[in-house]
Amino acid sequence: MISQKSIDEIIDTARIEEVVGDFVTLKRRGINFIGLCPFHNEKTPSFNVNPARNIFKCFGCGQGGDSVQFIMEHDGMSFTEALRYLAAKYKIEIEETKPSAEQQILIDETESLHIINQYAVGFYSDQLFNTDMGKSVGLSYFKQRGFLEETIKKFNLGYSPGERDAFTRNAVKAGYNPDLLKKLGLTTASDNDFFRSRVIFPIHGLSGKISAFAGRTLSSEAFGPKYLNSPESAVYNKSKTLYGLFHAKQAIRKHDECLLVEGYTDVISLHQGGVENVVASSGTSLTVEQIRLIKRYTQNILIVYDGDPAGIKAALRGIELILEEDLKVKIVLLPDKHDPDSFFKEVGHSGFTEFIENNKKDFVSFRISLAADEIKGDPVKKMGFIQEIVRTLAKIPHQLVRAEYIKEISEKYKIAEQLITLDINRQVIKMLREREEKAEKDKKQQEISIDDSEQPETATEIRVSTYDHSVQEKDLIRVLIHFGDKIFDENSGATVAQYIYNNTVDILQYFDVPLYKLILENVANLIDSGQSPGPDYFLKHQDSEIRNVAMNALQEQYVYSEKWNKPLQTQKPPEENFVKDALFVVRILKYRKFARICKEMEQKMLESKSPEDEIKYLKMNMKLQELKRETGKPLNIIIFGE
Ligand code: CTP
Ligand code: MN
Repeated sequence: MISQKSIDEIIDTARIEEVVGDFVTLKRRGINFIGLCPFHNEKTPSFNVNPARNIFKCFGCGQGGDSVQFIMEHDGMSFTEALRYLAAKYKIEIEETKPSAEQQILIDETESLHIINQYAVGFYSDQLFNTDMGKSVGLSYFKQRGFLEETIKKFNLGYSPGERDAFTRNAVKAGYNPDLLKKLGLTTASDNDFFRSRVIFPIHGLSGKISAFAGRTLSSEAFGPKYLNSPESAVYNKSKTLYGLFHAKQAIRKHDECLLVEGYTDVISLHQGGVENVVASSGTSLTVEQIRLIKRYTQNILIVYDGDPAGIKAALRGIELILEEDLKVKIVLLPDKHDPDSFFKEVGHSGFTEFIENNKKDFVSFRISLAADEIKGDPVKKMGFIQEIVRTLAKIPHQLVRAEYIKEISEKYKIAEQLITLDINRQVIKMLREREEKAEKDKKQQEISIDDSEQPETATEIRVSTYDHSVQEKDLIRVLIHFGDKIFDENSGATVAQYIYNNTVDILQYFDVPLYKLILENVANLIDSGQSPGPDYFLKHQDSEIRNVAMNALQEQYVYSEKWNKPLQTQKPPEENFVKDALFVVRILKYRKFARICKEMEQKMLESKSPEDEIKYLKMNMKLQELKRETGKPLNIIIFGE
């Protein structure tokens, strides 16, 4: 086990920009670096590397961490493997320590399980290639299915003999622990072999280690199911495993698309035929975790299922899950009685890829084509059907993606886009509500939390508050009182007061503290007459309340509200940095105002009594979303839940 001292040394020595730089082209931006995120597909860089803090963070997909985490994620390595990789890169000698007894048991067990699985792969493979039964039954079966020897080896296929305990006996003789054999499910409780007279498909984990097995029966009248799958174990979590992913990851990245099929043999056939970006959800129906695994490599999933009712049903279920994860999904149904394996064999590589190109549908067209017969001439059914699609659409997190689909439905069914949008938005808002309520319950979060970064370029994480803005308003007024008469922009000669006023006049009516609003209104008169107020103006103001505010603001050390002082403290002292501060206080206040008004529009939409009203509020809501985004951008604001 690697000693803590070595771990610290490795983490301290590894330079994040160098570690990442081996895989990602980085460009300097200020103190940081940016590049295209290797964990999701993007065209504009949102992947941020921060050398000062020695971490990376993608503001597109949320992945982030230190050098070790980067290597773990990027190459599917374990913690220890990643440390060893970095130690080798930086020529650090690793000091090994004895792990505690409990740690040792855990490590030993996981490692032993992998070692046993590896042994089993060797055993089944040896049986396949080197025994009479293996060759005449197993190997000939694979060959008759068209699997080349190279493919059989690549996927480590094997054969399990028919004897009661051939594998178990050999494994125990070779020194493997019978209890662990049972934990892996290779041996049954009654000490027999779990897989007998079956061809074996080992299931690889992300890093290529064997986590489990599937065994296919060879005779049609055999006892038991067509496929037997290993039970879950410390090294096999089936909902987090995709068959073929280990062999497909590179190709998925390269093609920026992942084909999703149903069967082990589909994966192997396609792979052998040169379509390598293909995986199957082995032995389960598709899970969210499996989709997230794919998401590391691409945003595009193409479901290739059988055209039978079971295939359609599975496809529909998969579509919903994929859309909810904000991935793009297309669907191809294969001709009757075909699965990808048999179809590929019949039509070959070009026939297969052509068929897919010509027949892949996005999910709306897919749903429409499925329902075409049923709803023909039946308006009630038609409406019900559209509602159903709308419910699915509402699950797509991205508005622009939704808009495309809306257009399609609108054209196909001659329904105004606005009406569909309306319906979707009702659903979306309902969902957001539910999610929010849940989140609020989960976490009575602080109002606002800012990354304790030293660099202003680093993105700031803001928890949108729809509540009280008095703190931000106060900060704005403070900057105004301190620096109102200073020059904000050399070119135009505009003052800080002018800048602040011009940029808050449109949100003035939404101020929470009437006194602050009053101060700004006062400033307006001055600015109109070409003047700009400095500290004295406020200190000597005729309104005693304004004088008080000024006194307090000027007396206090120039500190920001505790909640967001961090990025500011580290900049130049405030007396030299008022331009940046003015920008910041204005933007953050506007951002929060927009966020709040946005919410209010949503509420109004929900409560509106007529479609006209609803559309009106919807439009306002959308406009505000845009304003909010625009305002957030220069602040590098990442909004949770968006
Ligand atoms: N499956 C399973 N257990 C079963 C049947 C099926 O785990 N008893 C899973 C397997 O992952 C299988 C997939 O469902 O690969 C699809 O099943 P099916 O279409 O019946 O098998 P194929 O993969 O097409 O296998 P083959 O071509 O050899 O019949
Ligand atoms: Mn098949």
